[in-house]
Amino acid sequence: MNVLVIGSGAREHALGWKVSKSSRVKKVFFAPGNGGTQLAGYENIRVGIREYDKLLRFASEHRCLTIVGPEEPLANGIVDLFKSNGLRILGPNKDAARLEGSKVWTKEFMKRHGIPTAEFHVFDDPEAAKDQIARSKRDDLVVKADGLAAGKGVVVCNSKEEAYAAVDRMMKDKVFGAAGNRVVLEERLYGDEASFICMSDGKHVIPLATSQDHKRAYDNDEGPNTGGMGAYSPNPMIDGKMHEWIMRNIMEKAIDGLRQEGIEFKGFLYAGLMLVDGKAYVLEFNVRLGDPEAQVILPRLKSDLIEYVDHCIDGSLDEAEDMVWDEKVAVCVVLASRGYPDAYEKGKVITGLDRLDGIDDVLVFHAGTRVTDDGNRLVTDGGRVLSVVALGSNMNDAIERVYAVIPNVHWEGMHYRRDIGRRALRYLLSK
Ligand code: AMP
Ligand code: GLY
Repeated sequence: MNVLVIGSGAREHALGWKVSKSSRVKKVFFAPGNGGTQLAGYENIRVGIREYDKLLRFASEHRCLTIVGPEEPLANGIVDLFKSNGLRILGPNKDAARLEGSKVWTKEFMKRHGIPTAEFHVFDDPEAAKDQIARSKRDDLVVKADGLAAGKGVVVCNSKEEAYAAVDRMMKDKVFGAAGNRVVLEERLYGDEASFICMSDGKHVIPLATSQDHKRAYDNDEGPNTGGMGAYSPNPMIDGKMHEWIMRNIMEKAIDGLRQEGIEFKGFLYAGLMLVDGKAYVLEFNVRLGDPEAQVILPRLKSDLIEYVDHCIDGSLDEAEDMVWDEKVAVCVVLASRGYPDAYEKGKVITGLDRLDGIDDVLVFHAGTRVTDDGNRLVTDGGRVLSVVALGSNMNDAIERVYAVIPNVHWEGMHYRRDIGRRALRYLLSK
């Protein structure tokens, strides 16, 4: 079969790389892909992630199984469109994608089904929201815009003044557009964050390996939030007991709850969790694989991903064998452009990547890269540019390996965090 991967990030590169290893896959196409997917010999097609009719035509003509990377096409109903045209596609339909598309709907859904999450109130009027902030006994609140805001619509506040300002920016200044028509005001939780991603066919749920993202731009979790600056897998903070607790109280409850409400969720379900005193609370659900979590999870998966994709689409995940995981630890460091996550530079020549070719257990997944029109150079073309991944026999080994190879890569203004995995290492040493 042929596979069409929709998206252009390192998550999508990792997805395409993984499915290309299946003996059942002939050709992998990316829409639109990036410099790395082109150089690796896959075929990039010049169709954007929002050009749904063109994507449909391409997938139909080339008889593709389609896998969707980012949330936006899912929230806009690409799965409904493909399915109604008889095409095979992995991902939740528009109804199910509300789990990521609307914070308000999701908070209320979790409340209906007893899924643990922070206490919250919903407002569609800024003055009412500010009244609630004034009345609150706590100064540390979290303000969330309702709709998709590219991961930026959340402000974690330390004072009431910050919360008032966040409400004004979202609801009056509309810095996130219509996403700010409604906001969620939520209690702030303190603990360790973790990513927990499953695959579901709408009835059954199987977990992928655990992982952990690093959302802040700079070392020691300082600086602005980003799409993710690095990750590791597995996450040692989720032990066997916690894993079981999360499956039962969060992931299975979510899939069952959706089903009870007549919503069938097929695809990757991602819970962003806060671990607090042996319990886990859901900060958010995403309806797709995480980025950079995919870059550390997929290299550890020994099984054929396509088998599970098929089972999800067909509703037969209960017949699938258990996934087999590499015991090794994977660590990913994201190399970013100067300026990211704010306005960033583009068009800088990337050198040194060839020195990483063929190193055992080192992988490079591209995101914001482009091959110049003359075909001679690879240049930066986005904020997050490369995901460098190393596998090691333990967390320390993987961290050392990834940081040993990164200095080979260069472009003007490249920056990255030097402390990916360090918290996990400290945790492991403290046990
Ligand atoms: P979200 O998109 O809802 O996951 O929020 C983005 C980030 O904001 C999360 O990864 C957390 O770091 C932080 N965050 C969200 N909700 C809370 C909360 N209730 N308490 C503390 N931090 C939060
Ligand atoms: N790594 C966070 C996300 O994919 O949303």
